[in-house]
Amino acid sequence: MKIVAIVNQKGGVAKTTTTANLGACLAAKGHRTLLLDLDPQANLTLGLGVEWYNLGCALHDVLLDSEATPLASVLKQVADLPLYIAPGHLDLAQCEVMLLPHADKAYRLRNALEALAETQPFDWVLIDCPPSLGTLTQNAIVACSHLLIPTEPKFYAFAGMDTLNKMIVGLTKGLRFKVELLGVLLTMVERGTRLHQTISAEIRERFGDKVFDTVIYKNVRLSESEVEGMPIILFDKRASGAVNYEALAEEVIQRGGG
Ligand SMILES: Nc1ncnc2c1ncn2[C@@H]1O[C@H](COP(=O)(O)OP(=O)(O)OP(=O)(O)O)[C@@H](O)[C@H]1O
Ligand SMILES: [Mg+2]
Repeated sequence: MKIVAIVNQKGGVAKTTTTANLGACLAAKGHRTLLLDLDPQANLTLGLGVEWYNLGCALHDVLLDSEATPLASVLKQVADLPLYIAPGHLDLAQCEVMLLPHADKAYRLRNALEALAETQPFDWVLIDCPPSLGTLTQNAIVACSHLLIPTEPKFYAFAGMDTLNKMIVGLTKGLRFKVELLGVLLTMVERGTRLHQTISAEIRERFGDKVFDTVIYKNVRLSESEVEGMPIILFDKRASGAVNYEALAEEVIQRGGG
């Protein structure tokens, strides 16, 4: 399984939008794809039309005790695609606090995914992280094989990426496994804005070929599809957002070797 954590501690940089729409595009190409909503805001769950308030169990139950609630038991299928979600819930916030005293607190998700791989493996697992570097995000980084970092072309993007990089190095130093940067993704790019062009160029200079060729342009249809509770490719296939995320899926498949 290729396990991709979609991470950036900065809020509102399109982590959730990227998880939902990249995931749907991979599934539409026939890849079995699982999305994990690791954010107490549960935006991913809501944006894919899954109601979080009357779920039986959700991801926080898995993190607290994956023997009582295995990951496989909380999965819900999305649309008519080979696309599944482990829903998030407001209780993930409380779960994060409850995990703190445990020595294995950052390893819970990794263990749950290893158990899932034995019974029902997926081609891709995409993890939507909250906008913080707390225990939930640490679980994603320890569990993943690859990182995907979405960023807006804004002037503060660099400082945030340095902090993130330090945490990743610190977390993975002692681990036996390595985490690879799948790519940095420029999101919400405004065509014709000179500042966006300048900063996009600086990001490309700094990160070189780690920056995806594909750029996600600003497109209000992406927000509308979220309100309708479906991925953009099922809502408006011709929208630029749909075209951009399909191109990203192609690039991700190439880079991930899958
Ligand atoms: N390419 C885009 N064009 C226009 N709007 C977008 C685009 N991508 C995301 N948005 C909108 O921007 C807002 C923030 O996006 P999103 O929720 O994906 O960010 P996030 O990084 O997950 O935020 P958080 O850090 O709060 O979890 C949402 O309302 C989303 O619909
Ligand atoms: Mg989000």
